[in-house]
Amino acid sequence: MGHSVETVQQEVEQTATMPVLTPYKMGKFNLSYRMVMPPMTRQRSWNNIPQPHAAIYYSHRAANGGLIISEATVISEAGRGYKDTPGIWSKEQVEAWKPIVDAVHAKGGIFFCQIWHVGRASTYEYQPNGQPPISSTSNVLKPQVQANSEEPAKFSPPRRLATEEIPQVVNEYRLAARNAMEAGKFLSPFNNFYARIHGAHGYLLDQFMKDHINDRTDQYGGSLENRCRFALEVVEAVANEIRADRVGLRLSPYATYLDSGDSDPTALGVYMAESLNKYDILYCHMVEPRMKLSEESFETTESLLPMRKAFKGTFIVAGGYDKEDGNKAVAENRTDLVSFGRLFLSNPDLPKRFELNAPLTKHNRSTYCEPDPVVGYTDYPFLENTA
Ligand SMILES: Cc1cc2nc3c(=O)[nH]c(=O)nc-3n(C[C@H](O)[C@H](O)[C@H](O)COP(=O)(O)O)c2cc1C
Repeated sequence: MGHSVETVQQEVEQTATMPVLTPYKMGKFNLSYRMVMPPMTRQRSWNNIPQPHAAIYYSHRAANGGLIISEATVISEAGRGYKDTPGIWSKEQVEAWKPIVDAVHAKGGIFFCQIWHVGRASTYEYQPNGQPPISSTSNVLKPQVQANSEEPAKFSPPRRLATEEIPQVVNEYRLAARNAMEAGKFLSPFNNFYARIHGAHGYLLDQFMKDHINDRTDQYGGSLENRCRFALEVVEAVANEIRADRVGLRLSPYATYLDSGDSDPTALGVYMAESLNKYDILYCHMVEPRMKLSEESFETTESLLPMRKAFKGTFIVAGGYDKEDGNKAVAENRTDLVSFGRLFLSNPDLPKRFELNAPLTKHNRSTYCEPDPVVGYTDYPFLENTA
């Protein structure tokens, strides 16, 4: 669909102050706009090694001063639960990330690595020596209906982590963050691949935070403070390793994904937001209450405002945002930044499309995790005639 020069010009003038397109200073990072590409698992990293096609995919979506958060990236062999997701525990993986991070930096993009451990959302086949996956509990995750398959995903019974084992896992997060920094130093020692901790969606850290899962009686279970202890120890360790102003955390207090419900998600979200202030981390990325599953959104009166008010760093929201309500959220100061997941997935030049009020390409759910280096991945079109 072509736009004439006049209409484009008019639209640019009309939308020049569109809130999500205004610049924002996030710590030491100068963002050109308030639109963020959130983490999206794409399962195209064969045998957990990031591949060259990821450099094309991310560089298509990178822009000067644009913030991108990588797909969830596994911190250890035991942290795996899905086929062909990237890792960042080995030298080979760090080397494989380098050209990808460099491709984002070459466009002036700011890139964070989402460091991830799935905990009990795994099976024996992904675990070293076929061992049970680890978790806060020994209760098995019941089979989950999958977006792209008739078959529900099945999981193996986990092993409850012993209290004294927890520091080792904290250390794996710390090493993963260090590896990410190493992967970012390819050409410029100043441009890096920062760490963003995955504390959402029913994975390991969430398995400790949420009281529907955590049934421990040690100092990592029971009270809210105890359940949040592990996640905050990870935040502290990663911040000590790479500096707090390079660390972000994602949380989804309201989500029930992978049976991760909580009896008081607002108290949990506010407690985490307040606790994070002590560590002075760069940002907190929260998933809206309207997204309980990764795909479906619905109306709710619950809101992230109490967490927005409590957290002193940069606040990012996620979950079902489009141009209109993203702009509204920024205009009403309900957030600093807005992430657009599926819209970025299918529109590599999304900020430009917003700016020009251009039509958007619809995402194709059936190819989200297609094991193909191109299809549904690097073949989403750019706008034409907008030079
Ligand atoms: C294909 C796909 C993969 C995703 N993978 C991740 C992931 O690896 N880590 C994560 O925290 N969220 C993941 N999400 C959730 C997104 O980051 C985002 O929160 C969600 O899509 C809602 O935002 P949206 O409505 O703008 O798409 C994924 C979503 C999709 C559609």
